[in-house]
Amino acid sequence: MKVNGTHYRSLWWNAQDDVLEIIDQRSLPYEFITQQVKTLEDFEDAIVEMRVRGAPLIGATAAYGMALALKLDASDAHMDAAWERLNETRPTAINLRWALNRCREAMRPLPEAERAAAALQLAHDIADEDVEICRQIGEHGLKLIREIAAKKPAGEPVRLLTHCNAGWIATVDWGTATSPMYHAHDAGIPLHVWVDETRPRNQGALTSWELGSHGVPHTYVTDNAGGHLMQHGQVDMVIVGTDRTTRRGDVCNKIGTYLKALAAHDNGVPFYVALPSPTIDWTVDDGVAEIPIEERSPRETTHIQGTMEDGSIGVVQVTPEGTPGGNPAFDVTPNRLVTGLITERGVCEATPEGLAALFPEMAGA
Ligand code: MRU
Repeated sequence: MKVNGTHYRSLWWNAQDDVLEIIDQRSLPYEFITQQVKTLEDFEDAIVEMRVRGAPLIGATAAYGMALALKLDASDAHMDAAWERLNETRPTAINLRWALNRCREAMRPLPEAERAAAALQLAHDIADEDVEICRQIGEHGLKLIREIAAKKPAGEPVRLLTHCNAGWIATVDWGTATSPMYHAHDAGIPLHVWVDETRPRNQGALTSWELGSHGVPHTYVTDNAGGHLMQHGQVDMVIVGTDRTTRRGDVCNKIGTYLKALAAHDNGVPFYVALPSPTIDWTVDDGVAEIPIEERSPRETTHIQGTMEDGSIGVVQVTPEGTPGGNPAFDVTPNRLVTGLITERGVCEATPEGLAALFPEMAGA
């Protein structure tokens, strides 16, 4: 997508310097800073510190990390060590392990001399595939938005609500939850998006930055506003992303997603999840019981970053000194609260049968 008129992906290969470039998302939406990721420590730091974030982007970044590791030393032992180090960086988004496994399984049979080049090509392929998956999710989601628009008086906007940032910067391009929004906006369907702030890290500010850059009308609301908006008929559809969805369709996503799903269920608002297939964990059924939920630093709850009145970026403390903070970063929405899953192969029910019908080769694995 575009930033100040220039098309960017959230990461790209700099062939001249032979290095990966990323957008440092910790500086967004205040400053647009790019960064070169040169060492395995840089890769670990980029994921742990959330310079790159969002499940698909974490996976693509890890694939480039494996490529770098194999360029330094293509032995099995070094590959396994890099796998372990990168796999430790964040626990919840399954795309990380999916990308690491894909790299390792593809490289293991190759002679060591071929591994570095093959791993780099695989990382490029994973990035390109992610763009195409997200584009296809956008096309399938567009059909759902079109159906809602067709039932409204001409010119009245379709009102969407989203949580966290499942936008182009959380993927390689397009985003998952935002891709249908971009497609609908580009197709001339009037839209309005309620953007949840998504405390504690306020990824909603990233979504607002993205939507604003693309000209999509939106309003940034507190996390607690969604239920009220739904009760008053202000939301036609919820679309969120996911960090891991189980084979029966339980959806793990940013903390607070579950509460939005409950409110949507109570108010008869369709609740859709944009789901790229690498985000499906085919080894897990019960998301609440089985998905590890990242517990992040309490400082994220007691402090908040933003632009100060003098224009500088600053951090302020919002609680009394010494207040203990608790910070589970994700929650699980049971499949019974999910109206449908928007995948690259189409929309399905959040059930084992629904997912198996779209991905028979995975469901039988
Ligand atoms: O902690 P984050 O910012 O990495 O969490 C991101 C989310 O929860 C997104 O909604 C999810 O990864 C889907 S991104 C397309």
